[in-house]
Amino acid sequence: MSPLEKPPLDPHPLSPYVAWAGALNRNSILELFKERLPKNPGEVLELASGSGMHINYFANHFQQLNFQPSDQNEEVFENIRQLNQKAEAKNVYPPIKLDLTQPSTWSSVAGKKFDAIFCINIFQVAPISIADGMMKCAASLLRNGGSLFIYGPFKVDGKYTTTSNEEFDKKLISYGVPEWGLKDIADITLSAQKYRLNLKEKIDMPSNNFTLLYEQPQR
Ligand SMILES: C[S@@+](CC[C@H](N)C(=O)[O-])C[C@H]1O[C@@H](n2cnc3c(N)ncnc32)[C@H](O)[C@@H]1O
Repeated sequence: MSPLEKPPLDPHPLSPYVAWAGALNRNSILELFKERLPKNPGEVLELASGSGMHINYFANHFQQLNFQPSDQNEEVFENIRQLNQKAEAKNVYPPIKLDLTQPSTWSSVAGKKFDAIFCINIFQVAPISIADGMMKCAASLLRNGGSLFIYGPFKVDGKYTTTSNEEFDKKLISYGVPEWGLKDIADITLSAQKYRLNLKEKIDMPSNNFTLLYEQPQR
C-alpha cells in the first residue's frame, strides 16, 4: 500500500493506519521542532511513542539533543529498536516503560530533567483523564522553562474547527469505545493549570490538527 492510501481506522500503534497518519504528519512536526526545540545540548522525552516512527525520524535532525522514547506498552519496544537501527540515530536511548496513569512507572527517569517533552496523537484514543497524568508527569520531569508539545486533532471550546474533524470524531464515536473521540483543548488546559503548566501557544498544523505548547514556568 502506498503511504498516501488511507487504511481503515485502527489506533493500534503498529497498525497501517497509525503508520499512514505518522507519515503524513511527521514533516510538519519536524519543521515546528526545528524552530522550537533547544539549539543547545539537551534532553527530550517522547510520551506514547508507539512504533517509534517519529522519534527515530526526528533524532538525526538534532545532533545536539538526546531523545528518550517511552510507552505504556512494552510490545512496541522491539519496533522502536528496529526503526532506530534503520535510522542509525545514535542519540536515541533504548525505550522505557512509562504509563501516564501509573506514576510508579516514571521512576526510571525520576530525578532527570528534560528540556522538552512531546506526545503525538494520543488524546483521540485515550480518556480525558489521561491529561491529568500527562501534566503531572511533565511538571515533574520538565526543567524550569521547559516545553511540552501535544500534537493532534482537538475541539476548541466545545466546537469542531472543521467539518472533517467533526466527521473524524463521529467515526471514532461510532466504534462505541467510551474513551475514543476528540477532546477539548480547554479540558486539557484545566489539567495543565492544576500542575502549573501554562498554555503558551495553540499552533495550527496541516490537516486540521494543532500542536499545543505548554511551558513549565521559570521558578
Ligand atoms: C494512536 S497510538 C500513537 C503512537 C505514536 N505517538 C504515533 O503518533 O504514531 C497511541 C499510543 O498511546 C499509548 N498510550 C495509551 N495510553 C497510554 C498511557 N496511559 N501511558 C503511556 N502511553 C499510552 C499507546 O500504547 C499507543 O502507543
